[in-house]
Amino acid sequence: MTACRYLLLLFLGTIKGMTSSPAMSAAGALATDHPLVDGRTADSPLITAYRGGKPSRRPVWFMRQAGRSLPEYLKVREGIAMLDSCLRPELASEITLQPVRRHDVDAGIFFSDIVIPLKLAGVGVDIVPGVGPVLDRPVRTAADVAALPQLTWEALEPIRQAVRLTVAELGRTPLIGFAGAPFTLAAYMVEGKPSRDHLGPRTMMHADPETWRALANWAADASGMFLQAQLEAGASAGQLFDSWAGSLGLADYTQFVAPASTRALDHVRHLGAPLIHFGTGTSELLVAMRDVGVDVVGVDYRLPLDEANRRLGGSVPLQGNIDPALLSAPWEILEAHVRAVIAAGAAAPGHVLNLGHGVPPETDPAVLTRVVELIHSISPE
Ligand code: CP3
Repeated sequence: MTACRYLLLLFLGTIKGMTSSPAMSAAGALATDHPLVDGRTADSPLITAYRGGKPSRRPVWFMRQAGRSLPEYLKVREGIAMLDSCLRPELASEITLQPVRRHDVDAGIFFSDIVIPLKLAGVGVDIVPGVGPVLDRPVRTAADVAALPQLTWEALEPIRQAVRLTVAELGRTPLIGFAGAPFTLAAYMVEGKPSRDHLGPRTMMHADPETWRALANWAADASGMFLQAQLEAGASAGQLFDSWAGSLGLADYTQFVAPASTRALDHVRHLGAPLIHFGTGTSELLVAMRDVGVDVVGVDYRLPLDEANRRLGGSVPLQGNIDPALLSAPWEILEAHVRAVIAAGAAAPGHVLNLGHGVPPETDPAVLTRVVELIHSISPE
């Protein structure tokens, strides 16, 4: 990003921060008792690595570390629908903390879902077990998009409450906030359910680009506000998940998607927390994904980190990319793979260990704990 553009964004962000949130400090940045500001997390291994510094130990966390691989999760979720569990602050906080207690990972990832901003805006959406997000009515026409309700700042209160409860327990361990990127969110909205090829949104961006842009901007603002609520309430970093961006070619990504992802992150840049961008099947998109303006790029399991770093010109720290499939392989094979990921990551200006996608529900949690121990046992030099 050019210095000029950065300063402009900073300026706009500062104005926005000052107008949108009275509890902010004068600069419009994070509050003085925020964990990233008051000394709790700024020097943590995770934040240090995200900022390209030398961490005291190798940081590791796992996408989907909270969830069905943990018996304690299945127990507290019994009889409670997925999205309801996200909107009960005590429960969402407890579920976020479970994997941190169990595995000694270097971060909590806030327990919620990318469709929560839709739900809080008043869009009819549910998560059907074993299927994923399903909408009451798909969003396919200009009139459908115009009829979408606006997410309000007040509606995000359960999110802020859950984050506050969580960071009070986490102490010096940073909480990572997240949001779905506009393409992934809009893909669910247009299809009305999970799909493999995302034909609906890919057709719409060419056949009706105006409607696509309006929808992508709606999703950008909803996701941006969701992430802003988490960061302001205490999260120390933010990850944008564009899980399905890999179904796009570079030209479509750059023209129809990247501007909306930039817009989503424009809601939070002024806060100064490290921002991570992750998608799957995105080997050809890594540079464009960095260029929406993030500090760290998450790499899926398909591309070795030294090659990802080469493609990015050594410009940013990387996060990834243990193959989730190997979590079920014999330990010797998994250990060799983790060591190979660490060796490949050494090329980058910083490396946070993670999976190349989420923890599969059938994973033995003891294996995750052992992977964390292995990573922490290897000196960060
Ligand atoms: O530990 C964590 O990573 C934090 C929580 C988290 C969840 N969803 C909880 C969840 C995060 C970061 C997400 C993001 C999310 N949700 C993404 C992006 C990340 C990715 O996996 O690519 C996407 C695409 C979704 C949409 C979604 N929500 C899907 C596809 C599913 C799976 C449906 C199923 O049952 O297989 C969900 C449900 C969901 N979100 C679960 C969890 C723990 C499983 C629900 C359950 O336990 O019943």
